[in-house]
Amino acid sequence: MPHASTPIAIPASPSTTASRYHTAGGRAFNFNAGPSILPEEVIRTFQGDMWNFRGSGLGILEHSHRDKWFDELLFETIDLVRKVGSIPKNYHILFMTGGSSSQNFIVPYNLLPKSRTADYIDTDFWSSRSIEDARQFGAGVHVAFTGKSEKYTRIPAASEISYSENPAYVHFTSNNTIYGTQFRTEPTPPSNGAYLVCDACSDIFSRPIDFSKYGLVYASVQKNLGITGATLVVVRDDLVQNSNADVPRMLQYRTMVKEESRPNTPPHFAIYSASVMMRWILSQGGLGAMEKRNQEKAAVIYGALDGSAGFYRAHAEKNSRSLMNITFRLATEELEARFLNEAAAAGLMGMKGHRATGGCRVSIYNAFPIEGCRALAEFMGEFARKNG
Ligand SMILES: Cc1ncc(COP(=O)(O)O)c(C=O)c1O
Repeated sequence: MPHASTPIAIPASPSTTASRYHTAGGRAFNFNAGPSILPEEVIRTFQGDMWNFRGSGLGILEHSHRDKWFDELLFETIDLVRKVGSIPKNYHILFMTGGSSSQNFIVPYNLLPKSRTADYIDTDFWSSRSIEDARQFGAGVHVAFTGKSEKYTRIPAASEISYSENPAYVHFTSNNTIYGTQFRTEPTPPSNGAYLVCDACSDIFSRPIDFSKYGLVYASVQKNLGITGATLVVVRDDLVQNSNADVPRMLQYRTMVKEESRPNTPPHFAIYSASVMMRWILSQGGLGAMEKRNQEKAAVIYGALDGSAGFYRAHAEKNSRSLMNITFRLATEELEARFLNEAAAAGLMGMKGHRATGGCRVSIYNAFPIEGCRALAEFMGEFARKNG
């Protein structure tokens, strides 16, 4: 007997929130560290393309990753990423899976010859994970600096970084999502041909970046580039050509280049999302404009922290502060919980600190509007006056 089909009841979601603070589109402000906020016009574009992508009759989620629409989209996305980042022609733009976390082993697996050492700068939970994985490859890892004993409160000065004699590359994490610190500018690797490898997961395209100074840059898509599921890898061609051969096929950069990021079914909605985000960044004026906006936004929140007479205590040292993730503590965990609950009820959501640190973390990636920063600053002032 055929089953009677049961319609799926989809609850209608309210189109606006009644909370005290809300975005222009009537939603709560999203301070999550990733997956994170998307521009509202980008979400509207997703809605349309999920129903019918470019008049094809099918939504983007249902397209084959090998049909002509996806072909066009993939190459267009690569061109857009190259344009936004001014990425030179001798760099490949790849989309991989496994997150930035998997690049911790994919990078040394491919790029660290057995006889060589790589240098790592340890400024955060994520860089220490990169070190842990890299230790399984090559002749070893040299930790050129670690901020662990100081609880990762700062970025090292150039004079504090001590490189090994002949590293293959120098790895660093440009923005430290958990502790809220950020390199102002990239470190200079030793002048023996060592190149920079950067985990730019949480600040890629938040400011201009000179890719010619790097051998490889990687970033999961879910913060400044779109939704979760894909990892952007920008890698110099000669490194791919000379990469280690004894690497499983699916983990080789060489395979990713040859098969145009499609050796198997790729995370095609995440790649699509990056194309829409790249158009959005261009429509806002590109990376120079992003940097200016990000500086203005962060200044509003750091202003509220610094003006609170110690009610909120910033984790990062002043000259190492991140423009993307702002981390701070209140006097007690109980007060922190009250702050987070009341903020969420007011429409300021997603500020709980990472499980490694506790406290509060405010993530204000490219898509985050300055109105939300002003709302938070106002809320912080009121909460401090009431509870100080
Ligand atoms: C700097 C940094 N590196 C690596 C990761 C891990 O990324 P994924 O969860 O995509 O593996 C994160 C995640 O937040 C991060 O912020």
